[in-house]
Amino acid sequence: MKPDGHDAGMILFSIDHVGIAVADLQAGIDFHTSVLGLRLAHREDSPEHQVSEAVLQTAGGDSNAAVQLVAPLSENSPLARFLARTGAGIQHLAFRVSDVESAAAEYRRRGLRLLYDAPKPGIRGSRINFIHPKDAGGVLIELVEVADGPDQGYRDTVRTRQSGTSPPEDNS
Ligand code: CO
Repeated sequence: MKPDGHDAGMILFSIDHVGIAVADLQAGIDFHTSVLGLRLAHREDSPEHQVSEAVLQTAGGDSNAAVQLVAPLSENSPLARFLARTGAGIQHLAFRVSDVESAAAEYRRRGLRLLYDAPKPGIRGSRINFIHPKDAGGVLIELVEVADGPDQGYRDTVRTRQSGTSPPEDNS
């Protein structure tokens, strides 16, 4: 039996992450690791989007939905305007898709506006686009095409796995 995500008409494979806007990335990481007890899996600056990002995982591992902290890299970042207007907090909801171009095309066909005409690079080799929140019930929805396929998840770039069954991760 095929997984539901492969059924005709289903576009969204899984929840990839919940994006949380923070003014100070390191303070956000400290809270989410030391207090909430999540695991820092990845950090990356995204000049394209003028944000610095951190991916935090639950005990379930890298294929589970993550928390993504996003902090503005500059005053000109759209995220800086979001923080000024709304303050820190949940900023977007990201779904994993197998093909971001066809997902965007299908949502356009269904009458939704996408923020970009073509996908842009996201972190960890992904390709992303966004559905306009005004067309999605007030939620900024990110569509993420993961580099290795929607059911492969991500490689942890920060820490080696605790499990003896996994090969050591490349931290270079
Ligand atoms: Co995101």
